[in-house]
Amino acid sequence: MSNYVIFVGSLRKASTNRQLAEAFIHHLPEGDTAAVFDRLRDVPFYDEDLDVPGQEPEIVRELRAAVRDADGLVIITPEYNHTAPAVITNAIDWCSRPMGSGVLMGKPSLVMGFTPGPRALIGAIAVLREALVTVQAKTVPTDYTWGDAYPLLNGRHPKDVDEVVGILHKAQSELRALVDAAPVAIDPRTGDAAN
Ligand SMILES: Cc1cc2nc3c(=O)[nH]c(=O)nc-3n(C[C@H](O)[C@H](O)[C@H](O)COP(=O)(O)O)c2cc1C
Repeated sequence: MSNYVIFVGSLRKASTNRQLAEAFIHHLPEGDTAAVFDRLRDVPFYDEDLDVPGQEPEIVRELRAAVRDADGLVIITPEYNHTAPAVITNAIDWCSRPMGSGVLMGKPSLVMGFTPGPRALIGAIAVLREALVTVQAKTVPTDYTWGDAYPLLNGRHPKDVDEVVGILHKAQSELRALVDAAPVAIDPRTGDAAN
């Protein structure tokens, strides 16, 4: 049994990526669970002056606890200007600290996303992969992204689109394999296992 926390990169109500997160949850294997961290919009911009041990903003504690307590992180996002939306990179920044013991170290991670554009999020994926490698998360190597997503969905919820459901199952099984591999994070200061 695994449990996942999901970051959704689009804040709009009718977000197709939000729907993809719902589909991810709906089609999880029996026994696995996942929940969207619904308050990314309330997380302040990263500020080292706010990141004082024991005095962090309450929402930051909630964010870090949600990631720490999950077996894996799922980022489901559109692309903005060929990069990742700020709510996602901001959350990664908070979760990357304290350096050497951030909650993303060794965390199995999966990136997915829909875009109506033709290029299937290649800019956002590149940026997110670079950030996740930098914080020593363990990232599913396959790009689970869809360009030209609106004709594919054709007004349907993604949980009801067979092509999407098949890909979701593949993505979930790749993520699960990373979780089962019990990744060990390395403390960059000492070179020792951090967990
Ligand atoms: C500021 C902004 C920048 C965007 N840049 C891109 C882009 O670089 N590539 C792309 O494929 N779509 C881009 N889009 C289109 C988004 O993918 C689309 O509006 C939407 O966010 C799709 O996701 P959603 O349905 O989950 O909201 C951009 C949209 C906005 C608002």
